[in-house]
Amino acid sequence: MTLFAVSCTSASDEIEKQVAAVRTKGGASSALVDGMAVYRKNCITCHGADGKLGLNGAKDLSISVLPIHDRIQIITNGKNLMTPFKSILSEEEIKAVAAYSLGLSNQSDK
Ligand code: HEC
Repeated sequence: MTLFAVSCTSASDEIEKQVAAVRTKGGASSALVDGMAVYRKNCITCHGADGKLGLNGAKDLSISVLPIHDRIQIITNGKNLMTPFKSILSEEEIKAVAAYSLGLSNQSDK
């Protein structure tokens, strides 16, 4: 199992596939840790269910074009007012929620 490669072709390819799987199911997932559940529990306070809330200066995830490995970075280590999740979530959960967050984007072929 590939873990958390920061520079990242194969890990992100794998995630892209998972993202595609999530999208075809319209957000419900079985292939991964439930990214939606992780998101709802940890992220909607600032980002909102649709990614657009923008509380505490949170970026609008529906228009974010950030690629998956940068998302994993930000979720893991935090950024400005965003909480670092490395001691809160497992690597699998972070990957799953990063993948889920990609699905919130309107321009999601990044
Ligand atoms: C305490 C509020 C808060 C919580 C909770 C939070 N975020 Fe954020 N998030 C932010 C802020 C603020 C930024 C903007 C950081 C910056 O660039 O200054 C951000 C940025 C991001 C970005 C980068 C978007 C971009 O285009 O730059 C992603 C992706 C993201 N958050 C995902 C998540 C996920 C997934 C979770 C849950 C695991 C989460 N966030 C929880 C506040 C939060």
